[in-house]
Amino acid sequence: MSATGTSRQKMPADILAMKGGAPIVCLTAYTTPIAKLVDPHCDLVLVGDSVGMVLHGLPSTLGVTMEMMVMHGQAVARGLSNALMVIDMPFGSYEESPAQAFRNAARLMAETGAGAVKLEGGVHMAETIAFLVARGIPVMAHIGLTPQSVNTLGGYKVQGRGEGRARLIADAKAVAEAGAFSVVLEKVPQGLADEITAEVAIPTVGIGAGAGCDGQVLVVDDMLGLFADFKPKFVKRFGQLGVAAEAAVADYAAEVRERSFPAAEHSFADEVKK
Ligand code: KIV
Repeated sequence: MSATGTSRQKMPADILAMKGGAPIVCLTAYTTPIAKLVDPHCDLVLVGDSVGMVLHGLPSTLGVTMEMMVMHGQAVARGLSNALMVIDMPFGSYEESPAQAFRNAARLMAETGAGAVKLEGGVHMAETIAFLVARGIPVMAHIGLTPQSVNTLGGYKVQGRGEGRARLIADAKAVAEAGAFSVVLEKVPQGLADEITAEVAIPTVGIGAGAGCDGQVLVVDDMLGLFADFKPKFVKRFGQLGVAAEAAVADYAAEVRERSFPAAEHSFADEVKK
């Protein structure tokens, strides 16, 4: 609650209440400065395990650890006062059993101050979601393309076409019934995402799932144009910060080499004039 009592950081119930209303705005963040930048504009900020690929140069999200999530979660929490902070459960931290999931989700929330966790999976994770929610841990589910399962899915493919359609609808219903307060739909055909959005009582947050979802999420480095290794079709670059940063670094290097930086205004006199 603010000093005036008029505003407070959003909670999972606030996101749930946005179902069918104004679109939910969500971005990832991994550091304090970016968290501060996105916080006033977002309803929800996700400390995604995409941090492994985006900031640590890993080839997938599979190598992300609990320690990495705790460290980035703590950094993001320092930059938020408006948006709900949701933190990803990394690969291997929840799949074994509901008890394992609770232990690690509780640690993530206690050590970072996150208001909820996100985990990947539909029908097969419903029992775990219900177990966590019953014990005070709000859960955002993530179905469709679930990057932690890239090896069993056979790549980063669109999900829910053909026979997968009925499976994905069942996944969405299962996580909603288990008590998730929202669900990410990743790389799902637009018509199917619209159908799921109409069928389930919790908000759908799409990434590569069309404009009909209850909200949208993007990886912040993707939409800022900072991450340039590849660009999925669903990413729109709203900025070209990578290009601007590269030009700035090139200018710096040139000025150092020609000794025009530092100039007098960046240097200190031997004596201070009285
Ligand atoms: O890790 C992540 O950034 C995510 C989003 C892409 C939804 O899971």
